[in-house]
Amino acid sequence: MDIAIIGAGVVGLATAWRTAARGAAVTLVDPAPASGASAVAAGMLTPVSELTYGEEPLLRLGLASRDRYGAFVAELEELTGLGTGYRTDGIIEVAFDSDDLRHLDDLRRFQESLGIPTEALNGRECRRLEPMLAPGVRGGLLAPEDGSIDPRRLAPALLAAAEKHGVRLVRRKAAALIVENDAAAGVRLDDGSEVRADKVLLAAGPWSGDLEGLPPGTVPPVRPVKGQVIRLRTRVPFLRRATRGLVKGSSVYLVPRADGEIVLGATQEEMGFDTRVTAGGLWELLRDARELLPGLTELEFAEVSAGLRPGSPDNAPVMGPTALPGLVLGTGHFRNGILLTPVSGDILAEVLLDGTVPEVGRPFTPDRLTETA
Ligand code: GLY
Repeated sequence: MDIAIIGAGVVGLATAWRTAARGAAVTLVDPAPASGASAVAAGMLTPVSELTYGEEPLLRLGLASRDRYGAFVAELEELTGLGTGYRTDGIIEVAFDSDDLRHLDDLRRFQESLGIPTEALNGRECRRLEPMLAPGVRGGLLAPEDGSIDPRRLAPALLAAAEKHGVRLVRRKAAALIVENDAAAGVRLDDGSEVRADKVLLAAGPWSGDLEGLPPGTVPPVRPVKGQVIRLRTRVPFLRRATRGLVKGSSVYLVPRADGEIVLGATQEEMGFDTRVTAGGLWELLRDARELLPGLTELEFAEVSAGLRPGSPDNAPVMGPTALPGLVLGTGHFRNGILLTPVSGDILAEVLLDGTVPEVGRPFTPDRLTETA
């Protein structure tokens, strides 16, 4: 089977790897692989703390993906010889004031009601786990089974794995879907050339809705949600594990890497396709992070960046077949793209190669959005 995949972010890359490993001839179309949200994301693997109430199906998908991560990374690292910075040392979530603590208590009760193990911590226990936390931190939660990965290492490893299985990378922009005999037949590129295919996967993140030639009813309802991120560096131990904080109701997180990088994120802004880094965005991140970790101001500044998450109407991915035979969507991963990479690659490979949607992916097929539209 010939498959064309539009978009070489982590979801497109994982699907390319998984489908090519099963014998498909795969062409990946992207002018700049892994340069969107995959290059900006911090890489927290925490199925619970990005959720809001009522998103239990998404939680189950996140847990399924987190459970697959260890084997996924082991296979990837062995195949490519490349590291990914995968860590499973848990995530601590802390509260700055008593209102924040009440909110965390609610989150803990929600987690308990879903059978997810977390440990409630008082302020002293938080500081025992993370000694750089401010003396005023009121308490927190430890999610011992969560972890993190470095998306800037994950994406190149996925590309290397895909290429080892013969995936062809075309560094061009996809201009239009080719439709013939009422079915997807390939992709027209911006230089007028064509990639013919039996199946087309549209995995272009927030740009997925912009492809020309999508018939009515197949356009994914995704929008860009901007996130600004700061990268800092430390030469001395600063944080032991990924740390999220609630500071007077606003959320901030810090993800440490073994090489001394600390990723501080992230704003959440509805600004269209604007990726400018703003003084206000950076100030809010630094202000909140300094409340939790006063020593942060001593860290070396390394980089600022802004990325666009592919947001969907219900915050969940849009994955599966469309009303147009041969056209499959794999987008809308919003705040969870890195976490959901292993499970999304598996789901989309099954959709593309077998024409079936595995049980774990059924709540996320595109028809749920068109049916209610
Ligand atoms: N998952 C982190 C973020 O979207 O900011």
